[in-house]
Amino acid sequence: MLSVIVPTYNERDNMGLLIPRLSRVLESESIPYEILVMDDDSPDGTCDEVQRLSAEYPGARCIKRMQDRGLSPAVMEGFREAVGDIYLVMDADLSHPIEVVPELYRAIAHDGADVAVGSRHIKGGGIEDWPLKRKVISWGASMLARPLTSCSDPMSGFFAIRPSVIKGAPLRAKGYKILLEVLVKGRYDKVVEVPITFKDRELGESKLGSDVIVNYVQHLMWLYLHPGSAPLIKFLAVGGSGIIVDLGILTALILLIGDDIISLPGYDLKYVFIFQAISFAYATTWNFVWNRHWTFDARSAKPSGQYVKFLTVATIALIIRTALFYVAVNVLGFQGIPEYHISLLAVIIFVTVLNYLGSRLWAFKK
Ligand code: GDD
Ligand code: MN
Repeated sequence: MLSVIVPTYNERDNMGLLIPRLSRVLESESIPYEILVMDDDSPDGTCDEVQRLSAEYPGARCIKRMQDRGLSPAVMEGFREAVGDIYLVMDADLSHPIEVVPELYRAIAHDGADVAVGSRHIKGGGIEDWPLKRKVISWGASMLARPLTSCSDPMSGFFAIRPSVIKGAPLRAKGYKILLEVLVKGRYDKVVEVPITFKDRELGESKLGSDVIVNYVQHLMWLYLHPGSAPLIKFLAVGGSGIIVDLGILTALILLIGDDIISLPGYDLKYVFIFQAISFAYATTWNFVWNRHWTFDARSAKPSGQYVKFLTVATIALIIRTALFYVAVNVLGFQGIPEYHISLLAVIIFVTVLNYLGSRLWAFKK
């Protein structure tokens, strides 16, 4: 059974269009359904209208919400109320094409998708009647979310999911962007996108004002900090902090005990090497802990095995870095001012990518 969740605020006039059309489409496709209108006690009597329509369309009912108002909380409550095997979220104002509802349903029911998104930004999709300003804002907003998900339209308010995707997921009802929240925090393998043309509403007015932008930026910040999201960015941040730890410890060791030892004849190099090994071990452990808990959110596997693999990757990367750099400077003779630095940078980027892939695909593989 499909549970269609429709958040509403002052959408009375749209109910008489949406509910009959949606019911007809789903019945003609023999898809069992319920329609849950999640209404924030709209003063225009949206709920009464749904009540009235439910005589003819018994699959539809309205849930009047008196607390915790807002689009996302309404959708989340819809997830809790729904009894279907697939949840679908759509707007009430007919912006989302009703004919696509069965396609989103089938993507999950028959094609093995966990999440199906009605997308404006893939081939065949688009937006009708939006002023350029809104298109630009929408595009900019999608770009800021690019590293968080591979979905091309994570701002879409039109999507379907399996209940297991959000079961136990720490969803916050703060932002308006429920789908983005689900994509970052949910558990899923396959996402399918179905192209849609988004039509601006004809009846009633948009509720999403300028505070939405501020809210969105805050929401993004939380999502970027969330364990496991945008792992490459987190990996680089952790690596950067690891360099500080490494240099900090090395400097401390040299300053605290280095002087006495280094002044002994013949011992300097040996001890600097030992100091380097100590600071390398510390920094690698520091990186390991942050990457395990935060970058890759890989706490479900045993840490010991991960640690050995992570150290192996780090050590191999260190050896490769040393070797490549040796070749660049001593064999290829890159010793001049720009060549030296360019080759150093190239080697570091190459080895960082290796480190990342080794960590992601091997050490912290889930
Ligand atoms: N319960 C409840 N409470 N519903 C709300 C609230 C609220 O505070 N605010 C808005 N809604 C409902 C509306 O009644 C409508 O059904 C739906 O949420 C979308 O609201 P609109 O006001 O029509 O938003 P929009 O058209 O500007 O934005 C749409 O497109 C965006 C993508 O550009 C929505 O689908 C957004 O989710 C989407 O990100
Ligand atoms: Mn709308």
